[in-house]
Amino acid sequence: MCGIVGILGNEPVAGKLVDALKRLEYRGYDSSGVATIEEGQLDRRRAEGKLHNLETRLSNEPLRGRLGIGHTRWATHGAPTETNAHPHMTERVSIVHNGIIENFKQLRRELESEGAELVTDTDTEVIAHLVTREMDAGHDPAIAVLHTLRMLEGAFALAFIFKDHDDLMIAARQGSPLAVGFGDGEMYLGSDAIALAPFTDTITYLEDGDWAVLTRDGVAIRDSEGAAVDRPVQKSVASALMVDKGNHRHFMAKEIHEQPEVVGHTLASYIDFANLKVQMPDMPFDFASLQRISISACGTAYYAGLIAKYWFEKLARLPVEIDVASEFRYRNVPLEAGGLSLFISQSGETADTLAAMRYCREQEQHIASIVNVRESSIARDSDVVLPTLAGPEIGVASTKAFTCQLAVLACIAVSAARARGTMSEETEAEFVTALSEVPRHMSAILREEGLYDSLAHSLAKASDVLYLGRGVNYPVALEGALKLKEISYIHAEGYAAGELKHGPIALIDESVPVVVVAPRDEMFEKMVSNVQEAAARGGRIVFLSDAEESDVGCDVMTSLKIPQIHNFTTPLIYALPMQLIAYHTAVFMGTDVDQPRNLAKSVTVE
Ligand code: M6R
Repeated sequence: MCGIVGILGNEPVAGKLVDALKRLEYRGYDSSGVATIEEGQLDRRRAEGKLHNLETRLSNEPLRGRLGIGHTRWATHGAPTETNAHPHMTERVSIVHNGIIENFKQLRRELESEGAELVTDTDTEVIAHLVTREMDAGHDPAIAVLHTLRMLEGAFALAFIFKDHDDLMIAARQGSPLAVGFGDGEMYLGSDAIALAPFTDTITYLEDGDWAVLTRDGVAIRDSEGAAVDRPVQKSVASALMVDKGNHRHFMAKEIHEQPEVVGHTLASYIDFANLKVQMPDMPFDFASLQRISISACGTAYYAGLIAKYWFEKLARLPVEIDVASEFRYRNVPLEAGGLSLFISQSGETADTLAAMRYCREQEQHIASIVNVRESSIARDSDVVLPTLAGPEIGVASTKAFTCQLAVLACIAVSAARARGTMSEETEAEFVTALSEVPRHMSAILREEGLYDSLAHSLAKASDVLYLGRGVNYPVALEGALKLKEISYIHAEGYAAGELKHGPIALIDESVPVVVVAPRDEMFEKMVSNVQEAAARGGRIVFLSDAEESDVGCDVMTSLKIPQIHNFTTPLIYALPMQLIAYHTAVFMGTDVDQPRNLAKSVTVE
């Protein structure tokens, strides 16, 4: 799960490679490197840690080659050390890789038995040695790569450059995305179009099994059978402007604060506010005749789907089968042909979600996706794309993408309910009105941000935090716990409040804060009972509700007053306190909020 880039340029490329890698840091940031060819010789610079370490290295020991490759890494095999950082290299070839080579151990044993010396713990290094072996046997670079690709099992996007070849780069794709960019006498390669946006907007995407030979004059693409293929060349809309933090300390803070605006934009693209109606694009299926929907996603996007399950089932009486994509893809789920499978993803590149989607395609499902990155693999492979208009999300912790996903899902649920005759026109108008008020209520919560600062001080002392919710707000509790653990590293778990007494209540004592998501809805009285049970065991209650603190009937550590809103929209609004709690706790603890340890923004390996 790494970012790769390649440039065949007319001036030294190392600086441009690093610029492109900065745009790919969302895919991993534990080490990085570049390799170039100068006067036929391969040379590389690599550095552990963030990209600025590589920049420092390059300013002390510049590379001047006009053809090069670069890599930003999220370690899968081997610790994030300089030795394990890409590019990997032999005397004859240098390579960068995104993905996992599943049979690398067997290949490594074979190479070592033949006398090859492998010096890293990575799966990637074997590829460099295999190509070298083929070239030593007299094959030219293209044949050497082709023979090597046939030996590899797993997922990969690869770029190769070769000693003594100043105008040649070879690329290959199997399961991991790869874009080729066309310049004026220059050519580019990248994990996505965003990486290449400063250099070109003319892009073609390799398909699975493709391998490509690039020179400064263009690209020749072949499919897995070796046949020459033309892949469509398109104009990319990826922006060349690097997104900045504005006046915020972190991207995450900026993205939290953008929510009233971007959720408003997203809603506006699915709602006719003048007539108080949801207005979805044409779909190649009819909600009225669907038996069920299957939803797959990962992490935060999965929690968005879980919330939608409550909406679809309650409002549209439409059963939903939902699972995390990493489980769904291997469950061999029976799906009736002609059904609807819905995929949710910010990046549109999540490997498990893509695999789940391919499974559903084989099962003859209609494929709909809710994605934020419109040029992503998931968007390109869908029958219907329902974009979120969140704009680039840089912070690893998903915030605005989540609430925009909820906005789209809320609109689909209303649309499905209308189509299935389970919602009247009046109720649609009422729900649309409630959605239209969401940005205003979000702004109200953000104006009270100071409250979260003092709460963060007490949460930062905890080793465990529980989050409780019921009904449609149970997934909100799950999301709150995920946010806290991923950026503050405090252990946190979300539970359906009714499950508390079936086990988790044993965890509660005076040291455990219990964050309670409790809007005054039909579940409120039940939540109050659960809060009392937790408080009776010494739990320090953080109570989030539009109700009064006095309604809880027990001591609470902190009460955060949330605006009174329509029950339908509570997940969209209560998501913000979840984000603010996590953000302020992480800031207080001094963690790397935007790039927390061990994580990457986009998970492109399974
Ligand atoms: O790009 P995707 O929405 O497919 O990503 C899914 C998850 O990896 C993602 O939501 C992850 O859980 C976030 N870091 C959570 O904040």
